Amino acid sequence: MKIDEILTALWADYVSLTPQADKIHALLAARGEAIVNDHVALRTFDCAGGLAALAAPFEAVGYVCAADRYRFADKKLNARYWKHPDPARPKLFISELCTRELSTGAQQIIDALVAQLPAAYLQRADLPWAGRPWACTRAQYETLLAESEYAAWMAAFGFRVNHFTVLVNALTTFADLPALNAFLIAHSFTLNAAGGVIKGTPSDHLEQSSTLADRVPVELAGEMVSLPSVYYEFAKRYPLANGELFAGFVPTSADKIFESTNAKA
Ligand code: NI
Repeated sequence: MKIDEILTALWADYVSLTPQADKIHALLAARGEAIVNDHVALRTFDCAGGLAALAAPFEAVGYVCAADRYRFADKKLNARYWKHPDPARPKLFISELCTRELSTGAQQIIDALVAQLPAAYLQRADLPWAGRPWACTRAQYETLLAESEYAAWMAAFGFRVNHFTVLVNALTTFADLPALNAFLIAHSFTLNAAGGVIKGTPSDHLEQSSTLADRVPVELAGEMVSLPSVYYEFAKRYPLANGELFAGFVPTSADKIFESTNAKA
């Protein structure tokens, strides 16, 4: 598989879950903007191949893991990011839930989901958009939700893009991230206000905002339930002392961005 095929498939899967992404693209295109993707974010369970299994299809087309390791203690997540040698390609941000840190009950549910994985499923070249390979009941979903929004999201959606991210630096008709946010709000999009609409500051070298996830119907053991799906993120990067744009992530900001899929939001 080629990198363009991977990114095209990811985008198609993503917009199928979040109609707002297509609408935002159309609004920006109408202003003459050409959108550059800063990063694509994916989620997984550590006991379902973890970061390595999701990264493999990207490493096969040249993506390289950066040294940085991120830990989100409250959410019990680890994360890393990958860069492609071609700087025009989006970065890849993958997080994994450390399931052994959850309650025994939650672990048993997740283990029962992962036990349904067909043989060699985690080696699929299309794993990042393969979808949900397990049956999940509403009771399982709600038990996980009470303990970890992230666990519940993975149980309901499986292997899907969690968000794409517009690189605000590449926009030409907005002075800054507040101007873009105001434009989105004026067009009736709801932004994630957890920790403030803008996460991070210029001194962090990264400012981020995001929409709240659209709700979509999801089948849970034959029952259709409306659940928060995936969201759109906006990132403005600032140069480091050496003049290069900061390429990494800011854990305190990302911690709040994760809440864009909160069911209670
Ligand atoms: Ni992100």
